[in-house]
Amino acid sequence: MFHDIPTDMLKCMHELERRDEADRADGTSRLDRLRQIPEETGRFLALWAASAPEGAVIEIGTSAGYSALWLSLACRARESTLTTFEVLPQKVVLARETFARAGVNDLVRLVEGDFLDHADEFDRVGFCFLDAEKEVYEACYNVVVPRLVPGGMLIADNAINHRKTLQPMLDAALVDERVDALVVPIGKGELVCRRKT
Ligand SMILES: C[S@@+](CC[C@H](N)C(=O)[O-])C[C@H]1O[C@@H](n2cnc3c(N)ncnc32)[C@H](O)[C@@H]1O
Repeated sequence: MFHDIPTDMLKCMHELERRDEADRADGTSRLDRLRQIPEETGRFLALWAASAPEGAVIEIGTSAGYSALWLSLACRARESTLTTFEVLPQKVVLARETFARAGVNDLVRLVEGDFLDHADEFDRVGFCFLDAEKEVYEACYNVVVPRLVPGGMLIADNAINHRKTLQPMLDAALVDERVDALVVPIGKGELVCRRKT
């Protein structure tokens, strides 16, 4: 996956990394910032998504599509597609541009809207990356976990940098007997949950 990233995709990734860094430094408003994952989290997600069992691959929170590009590498390797959800129209425009320029329109389906309005469309989830507003994490967790296939993975971002806000959800996940779960200190902290077989 990592040794043959297409040139157009690498170019998009590097541009998004530069823009995200500038956003954080120049006081761009929270609504306009890309707020994307760091590169190491992208690689971490791609490895897990490529290794996840058969089932839908979903992302909740697209922004401009940076994490989706990493997940698209996994989808190419597992011969499947990613469905990614974004509520903000201005981010949807950016993401469409990213996917066209990176040449991944055959691997990524972008849905404009709230994931929670679409959860019923998925009954067998192999991998889900949750990276939305922290207020919806618990609701997303509650609808995704019952839909995970045995061995299916849910990974949620910001488990360390937003630990205080997410603590009730993290505590619940760590004792949830339907999954084996762990917080991994990579990037902003990833809650990794694997549905028991
Ligand atoms: C932290 S950013 C995502 C960054 C992206 N995953 C990346 O690393 O490139 C969170 C995004 O989730 C979107 N969002 C928030 N709640 C959502 C929901 N319920 N369904 C879909 N998207 C949502 C926000 O509009 C925002 O663009």
